[in-house]
Amino acid sequence: MSRRSVRNLIFGIILQVVILVLIYNNSKTSRYSTISCDDLLNEWNPEVLVLLIDLNFLENLKTDDCRWDETKKFKIGVHVKDKDRSIIDTNRFNVVLYDSPDNKDFLEFNEDGKRIVPKRFETRRIGNFEVPTNIQRFVEFYKRSKFVECLGLEMDRKRLKRAYQNGPYSSGILSRFRDELIDMGMYPYLNGGTVLGWYRECTVIPHTRDMDLAVFKENFKPEYAEKVLNGDSDFGLRRKFGMLEDSLELTVFMKGTRRPLIDLFVMYDGMENGSLTHHYVSGLNRDGTKYRYTYPIYDPWCAAVLHDHIFWVSCSPMKQVKHIFWVPCDAKEQLKHEYGPLWYRDHPTDKYKWNKSGKNVKKVGKFSKEEMKKYYLKYKN
Ligand SMILES: *[C@@H]1O[C@H](CO)[C@@H](O)[C@H](O)[C@H]1NC(C)=O
Ligand SMILES: *[C@@H]1O[C@H](CO)[C@@H](O)[C@H](O)[C@H]1NC(C)=O
Repeated sequence: MSRRSVRNLIFGIILQVVILVLIYNNSKTSRYSTISCDDLLNEWNPEVLVLLIDLNFLENLKTDDCRWDETKKFKIGVHVKDKDRSIIDTNRFNVVLYDSPDNKDFLEFNEDGKRIVPKRFETRRIGNFEVPTNIQRFVEFYKRSKFVECLGLEMDRKRLKRAYQNGPYSSGILSRFRDELIDMGMYPYLNGGTVLGWYRECTVIPHTRDMDLAVFKENFKPEYAEKVLNGDSDFGLRRKFGMLEDSLELTVFMKGTRRPLIDLFVMYDGMENGSLTHHYVSGLNRDGTKYRYTYPIYDPWCAAVLHDHIFWVSCSPMKQVKHIFWVPCDAKEQLKHEYGPLWYRDHPTDKYKWNKSGKNVKKVGKFSKEEMKKYYLKYKN
């Protein structure tokens, strides 16, 4: 045999071995393969259309790994209209009734008081199960679904000189911005004066000129600013201040409108001696002065309603509220932190200095002229 044919022979043998190993491994995975989720759901098919909302089950579905302890119930949403005629096996299912009000952009679940999630998710059908297509999105929605009520104080605005915002209109625009961010995989929450208005008055403070949202740094998608600049958005970019590392802030407006402007703050982890002690967002002055607005650590999330639109708000953590019995989702502590003990009184916007009036603001440095060329960007559009 020539050297060349020996080589070919050896190569052929190796190839066969590789193929055999591949076939073997494949058969092994299918032999041990777990029940497919579709099969399991078909077996458990309920009589009426239900929504699969069990977060553990949904996590399994992500990998199509449906080894499910059959003694364990899983959670489904049953529409209130099917409440009476539903013949659902409650030994198998943990039933949560829900409603889908026409005039609102969220579903309401009768669980833990009330939970609400945006309608903005698609489902696919497996028998009579409606299963969220984008499981991660639904899980993120449900994690933030605990409903928290606003206070609705009557404000004395007899001397209000000028209203810049109308609550329903501004909330509608803000909800469209929220949707764009959700579609990018971001989960923004109300911030600053917009939290104050929602909690105190259940609306937008009429004499403020803009609305504020924040998103955590690890959830922020820097490519969003590019998308907006490329015109691939219903919104336009007005300002981009600061650095992605510790101080980014975007200001947008909805195309075809001048007001409200919406600030999107990136919220950063505030570390002290290697541990997380607070969060902060940034502000930047024309002269380069940098500010930081600090917040208590927040977690978990709650959901709020502003003129029939759902928005997320933060809940105050127990450790921030000393000597006070902790009420989950109590926004009051956060407001006290930012606006002081008299947060419930109206404060004219023209007397409110963005870089001074807040109780939680401090100067943290200054950008040089050179840095300002990169980090203080205004757009004409
Ligand atoms: C961080 O460490 C310094 C020096 O050890 C100490 O003075 C300071 O109180 C610590 N801060 C916090 C928040 O623990
Ligand atoms: C706040 O900003 C204004 C300009 O917008 C500036 O004149 C003033 O010095 C700033 N105040 C503080 C406390 O930084």
